Amino acid sequence: LKSRVIADPDFTVASLDRRVFGTFVEHLGRCVYGGIYEPGHPTADENGFRRDVLDLTRELGVTIVRYPGGNFVSGYNWEDGVGPKEERPVRLDLAWGSTETNQFGTNEFIDWCRLAELEPMFAVNLGTRGPAEAQQFLEYCNHPGGTHYSDLRRSHGYEAPHDIKFWCLGNEMDGPWQTCSKTAQEYGRVAAETAKMMRWTCDGLELAACGSSHLDMPTYAAWEYTVLDHCFEQVDYISLHQYFRNDDDDIARYLTAVDHLQAFITEVTAIADAIAAKRRSSKRIMLSLDEWNVWYKSHHGEHLRKPGWPQAPDLLDEIYNFEDALVIGGALITIMNNADRVKSACLAQLVNAIAPILTETGGPAWRQTIFHPFAQAARWGRGEVLRAKVVTDSFSAGKYPSAPMLVTSILHDPDTGALTVFALNRSLDEEMTLDVELRGMGARMLGEAHELHHEDLKAINSKEEPDEVAPAAHPRAGFEEGVLRAVLKPLSWNVFVTW
Ligand code: AHR
Repeated sequence: LKSRVIADPDFTVASLDRRVFGTFVEHLGRCVYGGIYEPGHPTADENGFRRDVLDLTRELGVTIVRYPGGNFVSGYNWEDGVGPKEERPVRLDLAWGSTETNQFGTNEFIDWCRLAELEPMFAVNLGTRGPAEAQQFLEYCNHPGGTHYSDLRRSHGYEAPHDIKFWCLGNEMDGPWQTCSKTAQEYGRVAAETAKMMRWTCDGLELAACGSSHLDMPTYAAWEYTVLDHCFEQVDYISLHQYFRNDDDDIARYLTAVDHLQAFITEVTAIADAIAAKRRSSKRIMLSLDEWNVWYKSHHGEHLRKPGWPQAPDLLDEIYNFEDALVIGGALITIMNNADRVKSACLAQLVNAIAPILTETGGPAWRQTIFHPFAQAARWGRGEVLRAKVVTDSFSAGKYPSAPMLVTSILHDPDTGALTVFALNRSLDEEMTLDVELRGMGARMLGEAHELHHEDLKAINSKEEPDEVAPAAHPRAGFEEGVLRAVLKPLSWNVFVTW
């Protein structure tokens, strides 16, 4: 196979918003308790935060983290998770059939974000609660002082406002599994009124309305249209959620997750712009892909809830393999290539529950296979995304008769001069010679070149073998007569950084 790419820094999609390298921390399974927070763990600091998980979070390059859910948020009382820990109520968490001790809440999460050097993204409960409680919560978090809720925060030891900018108006309100789910009409109205009250409370907020829970929801598209028809003026983003699956163990079809995600982004953009057209508005609603990942192995039965209302049980402890890492890499490329509309994205989640980091309670933490493409994209995905010309073969799989064999994204960082090529070879059995012609960039040299490949698609990383699937130096890449030339193994993810 041969693929050819032509890129010129004068032709760009948009500058990449670094918030596309977000993740998600929900009160779910061992994501919080035993994940980011485990007092008594050998690496725990004085707050009970696991330092090993903090280090891996920094290495992953996460820029923003969504909290506290997820399905959890639709039954959550934010007041339960603030103030003296010994006074916090223990509650049933209906979303995950667990017991919630509330020993970790808003202020602990903010402290953790500051330590991890990343931005918080908060969701408000529009399931069991409504606009008034969302406004009060925002006042607690962001108002300087002199009012009941802001002074409550100060009395809890947080004199300075948290200054949380990014807020999700509920979670997956279209899903029958959601606590107090809503019709699009009901939700659109509540989202609009909540957004109004939040904006009147605090300047500079960025607000995201809930889109569909996935592309195949029966109400998909009509949901986005109706919701935005109600709250177009009040919100900045519409959310997208998508989890990829390989139940049929068909790698070619599985890899069309890339095309599926592209279709989702294209369609939601079109719907948002249709509402703009209807209103004769020049405003453009942006996309927040605030939950995405591979999730299907731990999707059924006892993995979703366990009997007896356990506290922080093992739930959704998906073990990722090499083929999952390829899908994650392809999705990251797709997200970057849509930099003009996708302004934030959260890999769901961060640790233990469907996550790139796994821990053992009381034991070590390690990187799952999907950690690697994410960390590389977050490290080198900076600057302007180039509108590259790509000439490649295609294949047919699933719903896609003509899926490109090469999936690539090229970014130019004007600040450092780095030009980075991310490339996924989706051929199941053929090597690909990749030529990248960089126009208008002068003579360049190859700084870094990495490949992620494994002969066994089902290979995993484990506590015993934490580096079974890990990037290696690229064996066949370099410049030839000004052209970046590399040979990509079949089913491989590759990164080239040029200077
Ligand atoms: O991320 C796990 C769950 O998936 C979230 O709680 C929910 O929003 C989605 O259905």
